Amino acid sequence: EIQYLEGKQPDPREHRLIFKNVDRVGWDPSIDCYLNDGGYEQLKKAMDMDPKFITEEVKKSGLRGRGGAGFPTGIKWTFIPPNNTKPVYLICNCDESEPGTFKDRYIVHQDPHQLIEGMVISSFAVGAHVAYIYIREEFPEAAKILENAIEEAREKNFVGKNILGSGFDLEIYVHRGAAAYICGEETGLIESLEGKRAYPRIKPPYFPAALGLYMCPTIVNNVESLCHVKHIVDMGGEEYAKLGVARNTGTRILCVSGDVKKPGYFEVEVGKVTMRELLYDMCGGPKDGREFKAVIPGGSSSKILRCDETFKIKGKDGEETDLAFWDIPMDFDSLAACGSMAGSGGVIVMDDSRKMSWVLNNINQFYAHESCGQCTPCREGSTWMRKISDRLVAGEASPEDIETLESVAYQIDGKTICAFGEASSWPVEAIIAKYREELLADTKEENARKPNNPEAEAQ
Ligand code: NAI
Ligand code: SF4
Repeated sequence: EIQYLEGKQPDPREHRLIFKNVDRVGWDPSIDCYLNDGGYEQLKKAMDMDPKFITEEVKKSGLRGRGGAGFPTGIKWTFIPPNNTKPVYLICNCDESEPGTFKDRYIVHQDPHQLIEGMVISSFAVGAHVAYIYIREEFPEAAKILENAIEEAREKNFVGKNILGSGFDLEIYVHRGAAAYICGEETGLIESLEGKRAYPRIKPPYFPAALGLYMCPTIVNNVESLCHVKHIVDMGGEEYAKLGVARNTGTRILCVSGDVKKPGYFEVEVGKVTMRELLYDMCGGPKDGREFKAVIPGGSSSKILRCDETFKIKGKDGEETDLAFWDIPMDFDSLAACGSMAGSGGVIVMDDSRKMSWVLNNINQFYAHESCGQCTPCREGSTWMRKISDRLVAGEASPEDIETLESVAYQIDGKTICAFGEASSWPVEAIIAKYREELLADTKEENARKPNNPEAEAQ
């Protein structure tokens, strides 16, 4: 039985595939440790398979991208043009920077060979002979761990020429990011990798799977998604699809931060845990004397949900049923049906000590700082939104400011080159729609500047 470090034992409701070795007693990121645990066995198995068969298994598994969009991974792979004659590239997006998200860094720090094994299998499946790990600049230690792991893998012939005698060649390069949130947007990432400023490209019509790095077919997958591929080869697509719920298969890592007694990471079967189970049973409930107020369920770009909300959910037969916030299953489709999204798995929790004007301003500051500036609605709008919410927390905003703020958000939404536009406007739209009265009250209050949180005030 696997032993975990004191205080780091997984919750009994967890199902650990990807995080099996995270916080494990006696575990280190070396290849010897990984091999002793059966590491690279799935690569050996995959090398005897037809690449098309692996793609089919990934499709059967129902795996949806864990970076945030939840796009089916196997289907993405099939978008490489069938008559392609150019080189194909695989890029691992390790630019994890969505506020509230902290999972990929643990995989890289503690289990880098799991990622490398997943990448070699995935590269083999899509026909890539060069793969990149684009890693967030702020993860210097993780970049070193990966460089070292790639060298270890090369010595054992898991990377390099004629891998395990299969005739398949693959080079993996680690590329340090440019320390900007937009470098994680896949086309911004590609531009950055090409040595340019990370200005996202317009998509559609051309997605990276058809025209990506150096205008060649490029598959960009998140760290966690690539690790799942190893487990799909191990279990078979059909067996893997039995984990989780229909259309939301497998496991995923939820990162819980904010106002809970026990924040942390939890790997669960997708959709098998509800908001109540996650926040009360696994995270220990609210802090003493506090009540839960709101949750951002999938990283800062996802729309905020009130804990006292009930949602009208349309079933297959078109019938509407009520779903209370606490009963929402943590899966892609359920959160989308509630008007938000599962995103990158970053669950940010706020209790009744948090003022929404402060939350709004915190989010606006982030997006105003991170806009790449390429398109006007986003560049100007994100700054305007920040300026208005600056006034709000300073107690200097007028009620008309709230209307202007809302109008600016709607003028960004859907009118920009990349999804950053929506990411910056959705939180504003949702907070105004759900907390208008509270924001209006702050336009008059003198103390609105304060987060009204004893801990934050003390800092
Ligand atoms: P998207 O929905 O445009 O695309 C998702 C993926 O599917 C992309 O790889 C795209 O190339 C592919 N795709 C979609 N339609 C396609 C088609 N017709 N043909 C070929 N490929 C197609 O979403 P996007 O903009 O890539 O990602 C947005 C998400 O990223 C947000 O929902 C957010 O949650 C997440 N995000 C995650 C961060 C993190 O640190 N993990 C940081 C920032 C955002
Ligand atoms: Fe840049 Fe914002 Fe336009 Fe995206 S939406 S390209 S981040 S300016």
